[in-house]
Amino acid sequence: MALLPANIPRIGPAAQRHVVSPERDQAKFHLLSAEAIDSNDVDDYCRAAETFEAGRSRTAGSAGKTVALLFFQPSTRTRIGFEAAVAALGATAIGVDDMSAVSRSNARSGETLEDCAAVVSRFSDAIVVRHHEIGAAARMAAKSLKPVINAGDGWNEHPTQALVDIFALRRGLGSLRDKSIALGGDPRGRTVRSLALLLRYEAPREIVFCPPSYYDIPRDVLALFGERGIRCRLVTDISHALAECDAIMMAPYDMSDIGEAAGSDYVSPKSTPDSHTITPEKIERVGSKALLFHPMPRHDEIDPACDDLPNAMYFEQVRLSKFMRMAVLDRFLSVS
Ligand code: CP
Repeated sequence: MALLPANIPRIGPAAQRHVVSPERDQAKFHLLSAEAIDSNDVDDYCRAAETFEAGRSRTAGSAGKTVALLFFQPSTRTRIGFEAAVAALGATAIGVDDMSAVSRSNARSGETLEDCAAVVSRFSDAIVVRHHEIGAAARMAAKSLKPVINAGDGWNEHPTQALVDIFALRRGLGSLRDKSIALGGDPRGRTVRSLALLLRYEAPREIVFCPPSYYDIPRDVLALFGERGIRCRLVTDISHALAECDAIMMAPYDMSDIGEAAGSDYVSPKSTPDSHTITPEKIERVGSKALLFHPMPRHDEIDPACDDLPNAMYFEQVRLSKFMRMAVLDRFLSVS
């Protein structure tokens, strides 16, 4: 495994594991980690998402409920996707455009995430939170009266995105069993960790990582596949993944905005190396049939000229995300 050179520091060890371990009885009441989702849950969520896609909307468990959307970090897909899902379920979304601008959950004024959750859970039936801090959703869950759904906590996890990714991969490939799945981008990102937790149930033939030489793959992510006997290998050029894999779940190579800004030792590579960008020319050169997915937002790792190729699944993935988020909300609102 390549080691990080001195000028690109490794992110802290805390980012490589779950800092806050939810208690067992909390694990199913909230959605903090994809670790709490088992293979039956994945099937149930996908089935429910399909029924919403087919036109089911208001449900007895969700209609008339209130969902608080607390986004302390920027978001397009997750924020708007949850809002669209709330509306389609006949529920109401509350929150503000930029929690970090109005919240007093900071050191200066002293209001904590725990107090924020205690307050907001008295106005709502579920809380969806995104925050730059690892463990932020778990901290809120500790004081929330209502289910807390983690919409991304720093470098840690993004479990609803993982459900979306599995739903989209299944849609593209039919089944992931015995398939070769590549994971592009920075392998330390939160979408990768959550996706790995669910991908291990899908029995792929292999997982192919495509990191530039200066990124290590987190040991906990590798262990998830190793424990299930799923082979992991590295390629040093994305063309190998295009030629050899059934699907590529791309991700940005620059994730400088994912974690806590102050105090972060993450050094951005700024741009994707040429060897790791996907272009129509590379796809054509190897005759690639690999389906291309991406949780997005993308930077420069997939050329927009790929968007109209049959390989491109990433906007379909976005379309499907609304139905998966309806499935997630419906499950948690039904018990709140
Ligand atoms: N995939 C994802 O989390 O996108 P947003 O940051 O736009 O929510």
